[in-house]
Amino acid sequence: MSAAKAIWIAIDGPAGSGKTTVGRLLARRLGFQFINTGSMYRAVAWGLCQGLTLEGMELDLADERVLLNGEDVTPNLYNEEVDLRASEIARDPSVRAFLIEKQRQLAQGRNVVMEGRDIGRVVLPEAEVKIFLEASLEERARRRARERGGSREEVEQELAERDARDHDFGRLDPAPDAIIIATDGLSVEEVVARALAAVREALEKDEPAGKTSEGSPLPGERGGRCARL
Ligand code: DC
Repeated sequence: MSAAKAIWIAIDGPAGSGKTTVGRLLARRLGFQFINTGSMYRAVAWGLCQGLTLEGMELDLADERVLLNGEDVTPNLYNEEVDLRASEIARDPSVRAFLIEKQRQLAQGRNVVMEGRDIGRVVLPEAEVKIFLEASLEERARRRARERGGSREEVEQELAERDARDHDFGRLDPAPDAIIIATDGLSVEEVVARALAAVREALEKDEPAGKTSEGSPLPGERGGRCARL
């Protein structure tokens, strides 16, 4: 019996659009592996600050922990300094090539929800489902301020600066075939519900006739690995 083809779900969007929260929940609901590519850019930024070179870095993910040369560096990755450094080094084509290759390896043969900026357009252009989360700058700043503290005005200023740094390589643009979810005013659960509906619809289109009725298992469930929507 041939193995079921792996299913790839790409989630892209600007900083603060909810990609990580939504991607994590979506992956959990589907029983897929969640891959947060921003954490990989952060780990490279941190490694470079420690004097490592790209060639001297072995990156791995274990659940949502990032291992750099075998060491769990996750606790070092979410602070203002790494926010800034990561968005700088992410503009370096050699860093992008290094991480894109690694991200493709991680997806090989696995059902994944991969979250980032260029997943649907560059990393996994053959992804079965591409979702792009949109949110206004005000809404993103409100969410970030709630998560990390700080005044909304300051966070809004930081996010606007980050958007300006993250705009190249088309990183703020959806893939032409992405499903766009405008998230302003929606709760996390509402966004996840829309994303799940988009996944079901996209995968049912690919299903052979007779297997597409409402409530039918997703292709990834055939091997028993994937929870029902
Ligand atoms: O999503 P994040 O804030 O953790 O990402 C950290 C930085 O990495 C951010 O400046 C954007 C960049 N990034 C990228 O260029 N491409 C990706 N696929 C993911 C993140």
